[in-house]
Amino acid sequence: MMASPPPDRLRFDPTTPNAGRMSDYYMGGKDNFAADRETARMALELAPELPALTREGHRFHRRVLRFLVGTGVRQFVDIGCGLPTQHSVHRILRDLAPDARVVHVDRDPMMVVHTRAVLREDGPAVAVEADVRDTERLLRHPGLTATIDLDAPVAVLLFSSLTRLSDDVEAMQITTALQKALVPGGHLALSHAVSDLRPETTAKLSALYRERGSIAGPHRGNLRTMAEVGRFFDGLRLVEPGLVYVPDWRPDETGPHRPDSIWVVGGVGVKD
Ligand SMILES: C[S@@+](CC[C@H](N)C(=O)[O-])C[C@H]1O[C@@H](n2cnc3c(N)ncnc32)[C@H](O)[C@@H]1O
Repeated sequence: MMASPPPDRLRFDPTTPNAGRMSDYYMGGKDNFAADRETARMALELAPELPALTREGHRFHRRVLRFLVGTGVRQFVDIGCGLPTQHSVHRILRDLAPDARVVHVDRDPMMVVHTRAVLREDGPAVAVEADVRDTERLLRHPGLTATIDLDAPVAVLLFSSLTRLSDDVEAMQITTALQKALVPGGHLALSHAVSDLRPETTAKLSALYRERGSIAGPHRGNLRTMAEVGRFFDGLRLVEPGLVYVPDWRPDETGPHRPDSIWVVGGVGVKD
């Protein structure tokens, strides 16, 4: 089901900052443009902890993927994949489960072109250009259906991608449609920046991202709260420890950080 008409296809636009390229900048990467760097620098002035947030996010992804592989899942749909880096889902899975089938999805053509180039070197995986807001179309995409058997368990990953869609009805329709597509044993894993810990900072960041065109949907004044993010798991059983700040999700190698400085939550739900 769709909340609105099919989203317009995004054109390659180096003048509009993209969250994936800004994360690349925070991590010292070179795959970013002037508009990304300018917005990222402004964001860093508001929240110098952004690189730490990105790093903890990557650590969370690794632990989640290790958990999912441990449950036996071998099919992954990575929605809002961003730029390929050594911390990307396909790299982590290549080490953890070389037999895993992975489809990377992004609406930004630059993310898809870069991911395809890297995938050619790294082995079998697919990148498709699609907008998750047209969920049904994404699930019927030939690149996805040729790789993923939706009649077998799939792990859908929404790592930091719903943060950029501010329409709650639309976001809920997306997660509901994705859940509906899962068979028992399927998982939904997501991470999402939230406003609970640093409401003033996240309100300013939210305004900055909106002004710069990197949040889509109605203006809601701030990021979602943890409770609002929790609703995306309605209908699934959250695995332990539930929805928590990402450093607290089955921690192992987590580095030192101030407890209130990582305002990103994450969790994994399973369909029984
Ligand atoms: C913050 S980046 C996250 C990248 C990666 N998942 C991570 O956690 O490091 C968000 C990504 O979601 C993508 N994205 C945003 N809205 C999307 C949509 N409606 N459909 C598909 N991808 C989207 C952006 O282009 C961007 O690459």
